[in-house]
Amino acid sequence: MSAALKIIRTKNFVTDAADFILAQAQQALGERNEFRIALSGGNTPRPVYTRLAAIGHDLPWDLIRITFGDERCVPPDDAESNFRMARETLLAPAAVPKQSILRLRGEIDPQTAAQEYQDHLDAIATEGGQPIYRHDLILLGLGDDGHTASLFPGTAALDETIRRVMANFVPKFNTWRLTFTFPLINAARHILFLVGASKNPALIERVLQGDSQYPAARVNPSAGDVTWMIGE
Ligand code: 6PG
Repeated sequence: MSAALKIIRTKNFVTDAADFILAQAQQALGERNEFRIALSGGNTPRPVYTRLAAIGHDLPWDLIRITFGDERCVPPDDAESNFRMARETLLAPAAVPKQSILRLRGEIDPQTAAQEYQDHLDAIATEGGQPIYRHDLILLGLGDDGHTASLFPGTAALDETIRRVMANFVPKFNTWRLTFTFPLINAARHILFLVGASKNPALIERVLQGDSQYPAARVNPSAGDVTWMIGE
């Protein structure tokens, strides 16, 4: 089943995005008593996470499992860390319990960090009788070059068809990143792209048209839905 695609253009980006995530959480918790969400990094999600911490303060965070779609290879208190951004805006303000958070360890060897993360997700999937860890919701951003997570144009992780989590060398930054691969992303029930009003409309159009030179255009869950929340 190809993914259902929904495009929401909104002047109330932050509140609409936070409301969407909250609704997804309530649906998953109602159906399975669990909500598996992967957070995206960068700047766009910051105000959305802050808002989510406020409106979702009373969610049963002990039933929510938080993963990260990608991470920079830095310590968790580094200004570049996606975990640090999430901790400041959502995890601490919402008092999310430690056991609900699965952090990508950017401070250790990238290959080791990717392998241990993948092993942990695989163990949870196996425990639930699933062939692969299935997120209820994966949040994704859109880079100016059409990357998403840390799947950058021309990088090795784009071609991965088996591994779920990889260390991916990014020549444009001359650095390693940790990232979900398409197999893991495309196993999700729902994908939410969070795209701020400042993003290039022509790029958004090209990605929505499915131009596969842009990694974001290759997100296509086999049994899931894709929503684009685009700020105006
Ligand atoms: C990261 C993100 C990355 C981000 C895009 C958009 O680690 O940077 O995961 O994929 O979503 O680069 O970033 P902005 O939201 O800052 O434009």
